[in-house]
Amino acid sequence: MTNISEIFKTQFGSEAEGEFFAPGRINLIGEHTDYNGGFVFPAAITIGTYGAARKREDDLIRLYSENFPEKGIIEFSLNDLSYQKEHDWTNYPKGMIRYLKEEHPINSGMEIAFYGTIPNGAGLSSSASIELLTGVILEDLFGLKVERLDLVKTGKRVENEFIGVNSGIMDQFAIGMGQKDHALLLDTNTLKYEVVPAEFGEYVVAIMNTNKRRELADSKYNERRAECEEALRRLQTKLDIHALGELDEETFFANTDLIGDDVLIKRAKHAVTENQRTLKAKAALDKGDLVTFGKLLNASHESLQKDYEVTGIELDTLVFAAQAQPGVLGARMTGAGFGGCAIALVKESNWEAFVNAVKKEYNDKIGYATDIYKASIEDGAKKLG
Ligand code: GLA
Repeated sequence: MTNISEIFKTQFGSEAEGEFFAPGRINLIGEHTDYNGGFVFPAAITIGTYGAARKREDDLIRLYSENFPEKGIIEFSLNDLSYQKEHDWTNYPKGMIRYLKEEHPINSGMEIAFYGTIPNGAGLSSSASIELLTGVILEDLFGLKVERLDLVKTGKRVENEFIGVNSGIMDQFAIGMGQKDHALLLDTNTLKYEVVPAEFGEYVVAIMNTNKRRELADSKYNERRAECEEALRRLQTKLDIHALGELDEETFFANTDLIGDDVLIKRAKHAVTENQRTLKAKAALDKGDLVTFGKLLNASHESLQKDYEVTGIELDTLVFAAQAQPGVLGARMTGAGFGGCAIALVKESNWEAFVNAVKKEYNDKIGYATDIYKASIEDGAKKLG
């Protein structure tokens, strides 16, 4: 653990009132389904964001991140919580303060130090981690009573309305509701969820970072979402549905002529088949059938590569290298894509050989290194002490 209280003291000159942590997340399967009313299967992980905080007597908000020391302490007033490009990363906590303040008594300024162990732009949701971390800090500093689901929804609102990324609810949900050693099967249509033991026996989940950074705000994320909405709109001319997630594969394939555009058909096909794969993967995990689970991970990647077109050379190289190693049951990109991270289900006894082989292949083809580590699954956002 990092000494976030020391960081706080160095920057702000006195003791913090408390220490807090919010994890990052991986998604086992169910990618780009959360804004299509489908299922997702994420888990919170031990890398995440630490925070230490203290209230101020006046209205000044002063935020510092050990990840961006060159930016120093960024300041703004509690009375002007508008989005400001030059306020950079602090727009995430600022958005949380703004929206929670609409309904809760946040009545003074504050100082917060942040330190994240999630590589930025790695697709492990550093932004949702900062949002939920800010949420639990505000709850504690101001004694707020906020339902956890409301905190999750507030994080999503920051992303959608404040930052301008039309993301679904998966990341904030996993980070807000996660449980140690469990994954969450979430129905994004109803927000009903099941806590599922993430038991992989002799296997471990590898996280592999392409080290290709990307920001969702300037990716094709919003474009994909709009394509799915257009495909849905065309299907609705005949079918009585509210989301692509409501369709089984048979009904979808029998009605693709309603969409009438090859690209839109591919996008919707991914959303529909990925949703079904997620349910199949959860059923396989329930039965301890890891071989089937692994095959579904591979099929998910193929669909994201060919139909949804959100992978790219870095993710494909990493995933195909991983899939080819002995002791690997499956691999796929995780998160939004366009760079970021992939996961693989790897037999623990093959770990070292796996890491060496994938690192070499990635470096040879892409020209820079990948980082590979074992995922461990953690609780959601909380106060540490
Ligand atoms: C990002 C978004 C999520 C989800 C994934 C893709 O992480 O924040 O809401 O859409 O991409 O599954």
